[in-house]
Amino acid sequence: MASPFSEATKSAGQLPPPMPEATARSDELARHVREEIANAGGSIDFARFMELALYAPGLGYYRGGMQKFGAQGDFVTAPELSPLFARCIAKQCQQVFRHLSNGDIVEVGAGSGVLAVTLLRELDAQQALPENYYILETSADLQQRQSDLIAQEIPDLLDRVHWLQTLPEDGIRGLVLANELLDAMPVHRFSVNEQGIQQLHVAWDDKDFVWHEKPANKTLHERVDPLDLAPGYTSEVNFHAEAWIKTMADCLKVGVMLVFDYGFPRAEFYHPQRRAGTLMCHYRHRNHPDPLLLIGLQDITAHIDFTAIAEAGVTNDLSLLGYTSQAAFLLSMGITEFASAADHTDRKQHIEIVQQVNKLTSPAEMGELYKVIALGREVDLTLDGFTLQDRRGRL
Ligand SMILES: C[S@@+](CC[C@H](N)C(=O)[O-])C[C@H]1O[C@@H](n2cnc3c(N)ncnc32)[C@H](O)[C@@H]1O
Repeated sequence: MASPFSEATKSAGQLPPPMPEATARSDELARHVREEIANAGGSIDFARFMELALYAPGLGYYRGGMQKFGAQGDFVTAPELSPLFARCIAKQCQQVFRHLSNGDIVEVGAGSGVLAVTLLRELDAQQALPENYYILETSADLQQRQSDLIAQEIPDLLDRVHWLQTLPEDGIRGLVLANELLDAMPVHRFSVNEQGIQQLHVAWDDKDFVWHEKPANKTLHERVDPLDLAPGYTSEVNFHAEAWIKTMADCLKVGVMLVFDYGFPRAEFYHPQRRAGTLMCHYRHRNHPDPLLLIGLQDITAHIDFTAIAEAGVTNDLSLLGYTSQAAFLLSMGITEFASAADHTDRKQHIEIVQQVNKLTSPAEMGELYKVIALGREVDLTLDGFTLQDRRGRL
């Protein structure tokens, strides 16, 4: 078959060519997707395409065993960037645990495991360890990497960490944490034309994967119609993220969910000027908007409609405890005090810390685009992370 590096690739600019082994795996995934397209009668909806591209067993981006995080991978997340991120979260955990007289932490989508390591290390130093640190991670390859990192970095705490295959039957009491999880969930893509709302599907034209339009199904139509978008508008709806909130809400007995990701309230998400939606692909630190390329080799993400997340929480009997920017959360939790307390005699380290704080909090970097939302059950608490600024009113 045609390599995914065909003419279409050039339209996304100069992307570095993958190694032959990666190309072979991508070709195999493409064959598998083409089969599914043929069995479905010629096209599959984009959410299914994205699900296969990211999570097809053994071949999808998050299942294929490649390096994804950090300088050698495709993108850098906040916990990868700086331990200060986890230290701020640790302080927020402590407030919740004091209120609940302890509890468990459940981290969902733990990536390389670096957040778990830094968080547990900090909570240990503060003598505030959770009873258990559960990790819910769909990728077996990443589970292994997380386990290796934790065993190497904090061997004394390894017995507190448990990988769950399903949510605990007795429910969760404590804190649920997710960083950049929801943006990696498959989204439904739509466009608006003179005939109405169209659902975007993916087909195969004998050379490349191509877009195909079909009239939107009822669920998608009901969501998009009230947005009153003009013809030519394309965007996404993340029904999987909303379903995930419901699943977690059903399991959370007492405690708080803290969800970090990039995105906006609904009015900004579907702003008339955001006509091409928010879909973005990450490949070796290059960003481009074409998810049909490099199948299985690039990350595909979409921004989060935080109004939808808040609604999903409230509909499932959670209270909306806070919503703010990453910068406001980290500054509320004392990121600058953590940074000032570091050893300033080491000049190189000092410069690195200043750069990390800048990257995490500057509005030109991650500070404004990235948000945090807190949802809770039976927790009557003003969370410290939202004291400098709480934007619940904007959702
Ligand atoms: C973009 S990465 C973020 C990783 C990490 N939280 C970080 O900030 O570096 C998304 C992670 O979520 C995992 N994931 C995706 N969908 C999931 C789901 N439904 N349940 C659990 N983990 C999931 C992926 O395998 C991956 O580890």
